[in-house]
Amino acid sequence: MAGDRRSSLSLGMHETNLVAEERAHVLARKFAGMFGESPRIYQAPGRVNLIGEHTDYNDGLVMPAAIGFYTWAAIAPRSDRKVIIHSENSSACTEFDLNDLPSTRVGQWSDYAIGVAKMLAASESRLSGANLLIAGNVPQGAGLSSSASMEVAVGYALLEVTGQTIDLAKLARLCQQAENEFVGARCGIMDQFIACHGKRDHALLLDCRSMEYRLLPLRGDARLVICNTMIKHNHATGEYNRRRSECEAGVGCIAKHHPSVRALRDASLADLVVCRSELPETILRRCRHVIQENIRVLEAAAALEQEDLETFGELMGQSHRSLRDDFEVSCRELDLMVELAMQAQGVYGARMMGGGFGGCTINLVRSDYVESFKLTVSEAYEQSTGMKPDVYVCTAADGVGQTL
Ligand code: GLA
Repeated sequence: MAGDRRSSLSLGMHETNLVAEERAHVLARKFAGMFGESPRIYQAPGRVNLIGEHTDYNDGLVMPAAIGFYTWAAIAPRSDRKVIIHSENSSACTEFDLNDLPSTRVGQWSDYAIGVAKMLAASESRLSGANLLIAGNVPQGAGLSSSASMEVAVGYALLEVTGQTIDLAKLARLCQQAENEFVGARCGIMDQFIACHGKRDHALLLDCRSMEYRLLPLRGDARLVICNTMIKHNHATGEYNRRRSECEAGVGCIAKHHPSVRALRDASLADLVVCRSELPETILRRCRHVIQENIRVLEAAAALEQEDLETFGELMGQSHRSLRDDFEVSCRELDLMVELAMQAQGVYGARMMGGGFGGCTINLVRSDYVESFKLTVSEAYEQSTGMKPDVYVCTAADGVGQTL
């Protein structure tokens, strides 16, 4: 949702709350003008991922944090089975009947909302008709999970409006299913899970198989800085799905030798070596990335718990190189942004983030160097590419909830 995009946005938690509150009030007034009644408003955040990339759909480990960019869903129930959704960002409207949900996607934002309604309806949730107005400020196509935040906001609102108790883990799963089965992107569970379970000032160490997670406090004297290459990763879905198939091909081969291996999560580098002559070199490299990335996530969690940000930063660098060389999901601009970040002062680590092929890098920066970091990296990037990058300084935020 690109509507409220700001350059070099730098928000503390207090300011983030104010912006969110203000937005909610404006949305409530618009909703009243549109539908003639007062709504309840729910918000679901976007996310960053500190480390653990392309591991979630391999039953592996990830370390996301929710951030103070949101999708807001204003909602009021209807007495019939119709759902009418307006989007503030695209000035578009979609309408459907819960008894007769669309069977195919149309390739627009509304697919996410319809997909979620379909999955909720199929999971026997007692849904009722509703009027909705959606708005958001999660930058779109930047790898900050604007789509997951919209799915979770809409799903949560549709359930809350009927007074149902919400099982957040189940909601996350249904939202992922909406994206997998209706939208057509075979994403893992990370984005929807963190939009549901985010915790202020914390990252989560999430096991994507068991869905168990541990909260990791983030040190107050370091900031998460996101640099947007401004290269949209819109067309990356095909490549993303291909990576997933390549990982599955790897598992198929390893499992012939080690039947207990159900996903790359279960495999070791030694297991992979056994397949050396049976698998194409590309697939071996894809698997090597995932196996090593899982190990890095555990090492990074230990480093964070020991407040050892130097080691954490080193692991971020290894993750980037592995995504670039073995998994091949980086691009020239992401590599450049990481290179420039590592030349700046006060930087613990930098790497590409999310699915790849564009979008953002995540940088762990000493808080007293954040301003100089923003300036030097932005200028150097613009000089090299002619594009002015957006830079966001983030703090970790709470997951989905009611805001008004
Ligand atoms: C996208 C997907 C996630 C995850 C990341 C890569 O953000 O939505 O599920 O696979 O890519 O780590």
